[in-house]
Amino acid sequence: MELDKAIHTRCSVRWYKQEKISKETINELIAAGIRAPTASGLENWLFVIYGERVNESVWSLVKKGHIIYYEARNIPPEKMELLKRRMDNGMYRAPVYIGVFINRNVRKLRGNEFAEHEFIMAVESAAMAIQNLMLKAVEMGLGTCYIGVACFKEIERELKNMADLGDEYYLVGLISVGYPAEDVEPRKRKKTLNEVCKWV
Ligand SMILES: Cc1cc2nc3c(=O)[nH]c(=O)nc-3n(C[C@H](O)[C@H](O)[C@H](O)COP(=O)(O)O)c2cc1C
Repeated sequence: MELDKAIHTRCSVRWYKQEKISKETINELIAAGIRAPTASGLENWLFVIYGERVNESVWSLVKKGHIIYYEARNIPPEKMELLKRRMDNGMYRAPVYIGVFINRNVRKLRGNEFAEHEFIMAVESAAMAIQNLMLKAVEMGLGTCYIGVACFKEIERELKNMADLGDEYYLVGLISVGYPAEDVEPRKRKKTLNEVCKWV
């Protein structure tokens, strides 16, 4: 597939077939992920694959995260009920979730004054890996969704416990992966190119 096509057809998929995804397929996605640039060449990322043994538990956490999110947005109760119903009916239920973590203890720069900068660069590197992985998924006929609500501290803690990860790990994003069970059109952007560009 042409890169341009992958970029312009990728969209967040939130309904998946419960079809198994092979280990080889997941490995191909991650192989694309780790081709991303990585600040200071650190490669301090870790991809945790939550497969069929735990995917139902992860789905529950994802639902919980979205409820916390929408409560914080103060959405009207009827909208909340609709959302809960949709989630109970299978929204966000994926055969596989990939947690992309960084190890905060893997550092190159000495001194506390660089700690925040280095942390942000590690997060940025992991985000680039996520985008690579998502575009590769498009090529392979898979759908993905970046589930940022999984990074809420109480959800992240449970995801880390499941994978036996210590405090040094920080969750950058949880990515649901599966063959799409919905036809999704690429979503229009609210802002035009001109609105988001400033030429100097
Ligand atoms: C950092 C980040 C966090 C996101 N978190 C969520 C999330 O928790 N739940 C969700 O349904 N979508 C989430 N999304 C997906 C966005 O809602 C989606 O990308 C946006 O609405 C544009 O739609 P598109 O991806 O189909 O183009 C997230 C995207 C990013 C980049």
